[in-house]
Amino acid sequence: MKGAVVRGARGVLAVVGRREPPPKPPDAAALLSALPLPILLLDPEDRFRFANHAAEQFLGISFVQLSQLSLSDLLPPDNPLFRLIEQVRQGEVTIADHDLTLESPRLRKQGITVQGTPLPEDPGAVLLVMQDASAARALDRQLTFRSAARSVTGMAAILAHEVKNPLSGIRGAAQLLESSVSHADRELTVLIRDEADRIRDLVDRMEIFGEKPIDRRAVNIHRVLEHVRRLAQSGFAAHIRFTENYDPSLPPVHGSRDQLVQVTLNLVKNAAESITAAGVPHGEITLTTAFQQGVRLAVPGSGQWMHLPLVVTVRDNGPGIPDDIRPNLFDPFVSSKPSGSGLGLALVAKIVADHGGLIEVDSRPGRTEFRLHLPMLADEPDPN
Ligand SMILES: Nc1ncnc2c1ncn2[C@@H]1O[C@H](COP(=O)(O)OP(=O)(O)OP(=O)(O)O)[C@@H](O)[C@H]1O
Ligand SMILES: [Mg+2]
Repeated sequence: MKGAVVRGARGVLAVVGRREPPPKPPDAAALLSALPLPILLLDPEDRFRFANHAAEQFLGISFVQLSQLSLSDLLPPDNPLFRLIEQVRQGEVTIADHDLTLESPRLRKQGITVQGTPLPEDPGAVLLVMQDASAARALDRQLTFRSAARSVTGMAAILAHEVKNPLSGIRGAAQLLESSVSHADRELTVLIRDEADRIRDLVDRMEIFGEKPIDRRAVNIHRVLEHVRRLAQSGFAAHIRFTENYDPSLPPVHGSRDQLVQVTLNLVKNAAESITAAGVPHGEITLTTAFQQGVRLAVPGSGQWMHLPLVVTVRDNGPGIPDDIRPNLFDPFVSSKPSGSGLGLALVAKIVADHGGLIEVDSRPGRTEFRLHLPMLADEPDPN
């Protein structure tokens, strides 16, 4: 018999009249394992009874190991997650908590949303579903940084036109005077020349904010990092120890080599300056690369997806980013340094945005980390 399509009460289309049996439902355990959300099941003593694949990745521990542990082996007793679990057990209701920090020597996760649900057929057991909001928040911040970088774009063009041309005239005039004035006055002409050079350098740095298309090709990010490390160690970071943790199988970044050098050089320079200014006795900068599988971020409102599997991290053991500048860290002219222009991170944000990447920051005393998420070569946006 041929099937007929009818519209049900809720407007759902259904095919009636077919005699074939419905397909067999897939195995529930396989479905749970495939789910990209971390899911954990705790028994009444908080021991791990189940963890899907996403949960193993999230905790960085395999289920074989987890099954020997309880939650208190991973988190200190004052972690708010224990309170949530207790409330779920007492009230026998589903409870969600947002922006939790799960931190211990084994684990460090921030901005986690956790839903706890009791299992009626298994008294005392609690099912935990986790959601890591930090990737979404990183995107949020990046979109803000983009606007910060844009606000400089117009100014850069004006500066280039209105300052650079007269400046070269001033510099030339000072140079001409230099040969004809007395020795005592020569000091002044040198001063004019040096200051003109300083302004020209500043304007040069601003010019990168102009909207120019970038010349993208396959860039070996390890060569970029090596180059920056060598530059740093032969100059401003001679006294600082560098540690490199590179993933040798990392595919090339799709980007501009020179601009990626600028980005990493600015981050390494900031790290070194922070260590030096605070007089940290065993200053250390760690450069890391990693491949992060399967993370795709939706760009709000655009229907676009970003696949940013390459992660480059610059970490230092300096005193951390001062609290008062954190909210505007990537804005131009924000600096805590007496002679800083505050353009370094604005430039970093602009270049990373032009590459379609993201930047995340984590900073506390003794550990500041800038994480770049970059696209790989031939990585087309998801059409869905
Ligand atoms: N690794 C870090 N540790 C501590 N503070 C940092 C770090 N990176 C950046 N900062 C803070 O962010 C501010 C802004 O950095 P940014 O690179 O934009 O400007 P700057 O370093 O002050 O000047 P410029 O880079 O133009 O010489 C710095 O002044 C500093 O206070
Ligand atoms: Mg800087």
